[in-house]
Amino acid sequence: MKTILVGFMGTGKTTIGELLAQNLQVPHFDLDQVIVEQTGWTINQLFERFGEKFFRNLEHQLLLDHLNKDGVLSTGGGTPVMNDNLTSLKQSQVPVVLLEASIETIFKRVSNNQTRPLVNQLNFQQLAKLKQQRSSRYYACADLVIATDDLSPTQISAKINRFLKQIKN
Ligand code: S3P
Repeated sequence: MKTILVGFMGTGKTTIGELLAQNLQVPHFDLDQVIVEQTGWTINQLFERFGEKFFRNLEHQLLLDHLNKDGVLSTGGGTPVMNDNLTSLKQSQVPVVLLEASIETIFKRVSNNQTRPLVNQLNFQQLAKLKQQRSSRYYACADLVIATDDLSPTQISAKINRFLKQIKN
């Protein structure tokens, strides 16, 4: 991978990943979409019918499968939370970019969207708590952190592009 995007739900990993991949002229892989395509189930269905652990195992397997491909990988918000995934992300030679956003921005983005099983179960306070609990995981694997609240997708993608060029030299 050229780069891997991590961050909490609703921080723009998919949007930025698509844009960045377009700019770099490489494929974009979205881990959630890969899981949906491979299983034929939605994320909600996978959580409901098979449980979170089953989903996490799939996510882990597919993360490993994708690390050596060329492209941009957008992970799921929970990907770095599993120990094995965090280790793989830290040990890989791929630059990891953390997209940060305030919980207010995140809540606005995710609360009207029914595609995330965890969001359906959590109110604002609980979502804020989950973000806080996970925060150290995201930072533990990040090589670059971008506060996205006041930036457009184009600006965020440009920042990542500059960073990738810098570390190449
Ligand atoms: C999850 C985030 C989701 C998806 C699943 C679980 C999480 O991905 O993988 O609903 O645990 O934070 P997004 O970050 O793309 O919403």
